[in-house]
Amino acid sequence: MQPVDNTFSLPPFPYAVPEPPQQGMASHAVWFKTYAALETAACPYERGPMDLKLAHTRQVVDNARSICTSESMSDRETHACLLAALYHDVGRFLQYRIWKTFKDSQSQNHGLISAAILETCHVLQNEPDVASEVLDAVRWHNAPHLPKDMQDNVAAKVVRDADKIDILRVIDSHLSGPGPYEPTVILSLPDDPRLFSQRVIDCALNQSTASYGDLLSVNDFRLLLGSWVFALNYPSSRRMLASQGHVERLLAPLPQDIYGEAKKTILSALAKSQKAGA
Ligand SMILES: [Fe+2]
Repeated sequence: MQPVDNTFSLPPFPYAVPEPPQQGMASHAVWFKTYAALETAACPYERGPMDLKLAHTRQVVDNARSICTSESMSDRETHACLLAALYHDVGRFLQYRIWKTFKDSQSQNHGLISAAILETCHVLQNEPDVASEVLDAVRWHNAPHLPKDMQDNVAAKVVRDADKIDILRVIDSHLSGPGPYEPTVILSLPDDPRLFSQRVIDCALNQSTASYGDLLSVNDFRLLLGSWVFALNYPSSRRMLASQGHVERLLAPLPQDIYGEAKKTILSALAKSQKAGA
């Protein structure tokens, strides 16, 4: 859901928040780990979902680092991207502790929660060169589209790509597994092969991406995830996605009579990215 209200204020923390990190990734990594451990200890629910978010964060940081290297980004840009990747989902822990869900629609927008934590805890106070870029990137990382005035925010573009690539990994590994599907992973959509949304198909055919609100079935969700190839910002992100095989596996079970052309559009775009190094 698109953030519309930047004034979300956090409830009081039930523990002493760690001192702000010093400049540099090493200190931020320690702060993040300490903060996540405090949240996990304070959480009355099982810790499995917290561990998944820790693994996701590690992977998004790795993806962001690869994109920055491939795109020959400057040290300053790379630093901003890695900070944004590290903190993009920092609000997930508090979200789960308070609401026992990762659904923003049943709690709060987690991009806003993450940004509020960074501000309230002064996490970026020793990073004056990149603080506002990182804060904006975190706040907007999960918005359907980046606002026009943020098109120069490299950290936002990189973290959005790095995040999408890892979400595809997570959902592919779940949907390719033995089942049954976990309702939260498939957005509680029905797994009925005859149900489909023409809007989701048309978006893929037009090389664009539909919204979650357009989905009618698990198959639509598979196609939507595949169409994320059109939403990536960098050629190296598309190459990374193409090399991982997640899109092929997600699209493989789709019935040819309904999704055939849309599937072909996505797979040929993916092949082109890989072949051309485009
Ligand atoms: Fe997120």
